[in-house]
Amino acid sequence: MPTIQKILRDVQNLLEYHQLMGVKEIPAAKGKGRKAKEGSKEMRLKELREKIGDCKLCRLCKGRTNLVFGVGNPQAKLVFIGEGPGRDEDIKGEPFVGRAGQLLTKIIEAMGFKRNEVYIANVVKCRPPENRNPEPDEIESCLPFLKEQIAVIGPKAIICLGKFAAQTVLGTVEPITRLRGNMGEYDGIPVMPTYHPAYLLRNPDAKKQVWEDVQKVMKILKKA
Ligand code: URA
Repeated sequence: MPTIQKILRDVQNLLEYHQLMGVKEIPAAKGKGRKAKEGSKEMRLKELREKIGDCKLCRLCKGRTNLVFGVGNPQAKLVFIGEGPGRDEDIKGEPFVGRAGQLLTKIIEAMGFKRNEVYIANVVKCRPPENRNPEPDEIESCLPFLKEQIAVIGPKAIICLGKFAAQTVLGTVEPITRLRGNMGEYDGIPVMPTYHPAYLLRNPDAKKQVWEDVQKVMKILKKA
């Protein structure tokens, strides 16, 4: 165990060394402390967005107005993943802002969160023409971006909205009717597949099941 005197001597030696090397000031430590860590998540998401740039990895780039990266809190404990932008999202450049999005916001608020406290992203970042399903090769091209978003945010839980999000994140072809309600896992993070809000708009009776699913997530988040 070094004595205080030894630590101070080492610090003094180090400072003298820096002085000798012409170093005029030493910046505050980066990556330590809560503030620095929070800042770095935000920065890493910004860097990822910049890296994606004007992406042309798949054919969906041809029809898009805006690439819809994702929105919300980079420190979110909870991440929602949808399928892909629709018309409203393509125009606004933000996920889940249409009718399905309004319902998602209600679900988020019923869970006790504000929309800006969670993070929302999609499997594909560009709108498929006429809102068709995303093709497997489009999903494959876009998936590294979603994976990186999840890795940066490091949420305590993920909720997958609908078949495409659930199957992609869990790496399965099981139907959503089988997957929903059963907690899965992605990279050590609990994943709850549930129905897509657009499905709930057509089938309001299924809201009860979604509520059951999100309650399971709330339990996990309370413990986390
Ligand atoms: N449906 C989705 O899956 N994502 C959106 O962003 C909007 C609607």
